[in-house]
Amino acid sequence: MRWSQSLGGMALTLIVLNFKTYREATGDSAVALSKICESIASEYGVDIAVAPQAADIRAVASAVSIPVYAQHVDGVGFGSFTGHITAASVKAAGASGSLINHSERRLRLADIEASLRACRSEGLTSIICTNNVATTRAAAALRPDYVAVEPPELIGSGIPVSKADPEVVRGSVEAVRAIEKDVGVLCGAGITHGDDLRAAIELGAVGVLLASGIVKAKDQRKALEDLVTGV
Ligand code: G3P
Repeated sequence: MRWSQSLGGMALTLIVLNFKTYREATGDSAVALSKICESIASEYGVDIAVAPQAADIRAVASAVSIPVYAQHVDGVGFGSFTGHITAASVKAAGASGSLINHSERRLRLADIEASLRACRSEGLTSIICTNNVATTRAAAALRPDYVAVEPPELIGSGIPVSKADPEVVRGSVEAVRAIEKDVGVLCGAGITHGDDLRAAIELGAVGVLLASGIVKAKDQRKALEDLVTGV
């Protein structure tokens, strides 16, 4: 669903927590962390989506009612393909969206378009990840639901993009607005605290994509509580 259509037209701040392949968010731990996200989302009235590994989607989606996203889908359908992740399979497992072209799962332009098409054909919300303003502009032209700009050098650094590189966020928002107003801009990399989230919103982002600040925290619930104070 496009951000501008959420809650009957009222835009919500979206927090997408990428579980990556972190041990702290794999298997049973993926389910446990998703339950924490669900409880914080309902307690604080915020919109949190989780992106576990493909093999954990079904268990997570059966355990929580918040949106579950895949970390990647391939642009292939049913048939003679091996080792791929299809949009139809993640949807059947309970996913309602997918990341595409994450910096740790980069794709060629034609593959990005094919993954996006696969998401659309299954009605999955799409988030295309980008690394700078120029690639954000290119991604927006494909009309995903969201683009998420994440400078790779800040990923996992604990240094928030919204403070260390506000220009890449502001520039991405402007670039997207000039092309397609309905595409929401998320930002990510180093986002951990409520202040980081607030700074992202002030720069025009509609939410954040984050991972280590929450997944690797000693107390994941406390870390999430801190984050949502920024909404
Ligand atoms: O997908 C989120 C991501 O790449 C940012 O990671 O650990 O800097 O929040 P992190």
